[in-house]
Amino acid sequence: MALTKAILEPDNSNLDHFPGEYGIPFFGKMLQVVDDSVKLCDDHFKKFGPVSKIDLVKNQKVLLCLGPEFNEATLFDKDDSFSSAAGYHNSLGTLYPEGMLLRDGGMHKKTRRASQPSFKTDALKSYVELLLPIQEKRIAELPVNKEFLFYDAIQQTLMDVAARVFLGLDETSRMAKKLNNIFTTINKGLITPLPYNIPFSTFSRALKARERLRAYIHSNIPKRRGSDGVDMFTRYCNAQDEEGAFLDDIDIDGHIAFLMFAAFDTTTSALTNILYYLGTHPEWQDKVRAEITQIGNKDLTYEDASSMVLTEYVFNETLRFYPSVMILNRRATKDVEIAGYHIPKNTVLMLSPAYTHRMPEWWSNPETFDPMRFSPERAEHKRHGFSYIPFGGGAHKCIGMHFAQLNAKLYLFRLLRKYRVKLRENYNPKFMHVHLPRPKDKLPITLEPI
Ligand code: HEM
Repeated sequence: MALTKAILEPDNSNLDHFPGEYGIPFFGKMLQVVDDSVKLCDDHFKKFGPVSKIDLVKNQKVLLCLGPEFNEATLFDKDDSFSSAAGYHNSLGTLYPEGMLLRDGGMHKKTRRASQPSFKTDALKSYVELLLPIQEKRIAELPVNKEFLFYDAIQQTLMDVAARVFLGLDETSRMAKKLNNIFTTINKGLITPLPYNIPFSTFSRALKARERLRAYIHSNIPKRRGSDGVDMFTRYCNAQDEEGAFLDDIDIDGHIAFLMFAAFDTTTSALTNILYYLGTHPEWQDKVRAEITQIGNKDLTYEDASSMVLTEYVFNETLRFYPSVMILNRRATKDVEIAGYHIPKNTVLMLSPAYTHRMPEWWSNPETFDPMRFSPERAEHKRHGFSYIPFGGGAHKCIGMHFAQLNAKLYLFRLLRKYRVKLRENYNPKFMHVHLPRPKDKLPITLEPI
């Protein structure tokens, strides 16, 4: 499918024949999505059924499609009827136009193939070596017996990870700090409600920051090519296709910038929410700690990580409630029929993994925190191939899934062996949902030595 053609045509905004309702001028229903996207989906489902129209920022009209059947039709996309590029063109595409998720068909396949070596087992093993010292140092710096905001702390840690693992930089160097600022500025541009290139605005600053990141990556490609660094940037510089050709500079820049974006906020959100659940369910914190203590080594190896089964269930259950990417988008490239609904060409579809993850048709007591639902005996996540999609599915399924799990396990291994995580008494925070789910108050925690 031609990527540019798919994007050049405007979105279909004639959704008159669908039930649903629109929100206020300019913001549409975006404020409700940010505040509680699951409630919004639930309200729409109850009032209008699984398919309904709604509008987002700039009153962009989209079709909310709820449930595994729609997730499968769009993400698995067996008839090649949906574009990811056109689905994200107005959001991620403004600052990461060359990102992997902004590509379809053959171009996407090529990118994905070039990226595979950076995510194979031997690459993951080499990242363990890079991650361990960063996590050790950052965990050693955390306040003890004194409340602090975990979200801020884990952000710093993962910024260091981005510098070291993605860019191959010493995380304490001036360049790493400079790039952190650049990266933060770009991402602010993604969530501003006013994505216009007006001088001094958040968005124009983000565009400039993206240019600076591009300049840094382009100027460093010749130095990295042929070097033996194990970081992702160097791996991309050395990646060759079947004919032995290197990736174009523009592709390397596009992939690395997008990888950092895709990895950073998602993992920050996941680890923050995991600590929230371990804090509110101390019995599970004890179980995870017992599992960790059983592993005799001082440092976790790649092989040890796969034995952390209960930790994995907790990870999965946390992402069931709060999948870091709460909303997924696709756009129909032709007229399609799903579950009896006729969806016109160029309609943007909005999917909600979080809503699907709480549908009582697919989950027992969905509002209860119950990690054992992921055990082989119960395997609730296998009741439908697309009822559990924290990492998406189909051709665009998250390429960093194993890296994210590994990173989280390594961090929890170190933290929970040393400390008990305590939350405030009767802690019951309000969660924000978009652009990433987390407690609004950034999760104040206290660490008590074991
Ligand atoms: C808990 C952490 C993470 C979650 C929940 C997550 C979730 C997702 C989801 C839902 C998608 C699919 C989006 C769609 O189809 O519309 C995706 C794609 C992607 N993710 Fe992740 N992600 C995580 C971590 C990471 C990490 C650590 C990396 C890189 C190291 C990464 C790189 C990517 C890339 C490059 C894509 C696009 C893949 C493609 O288009 O083929 N993600 N992720």
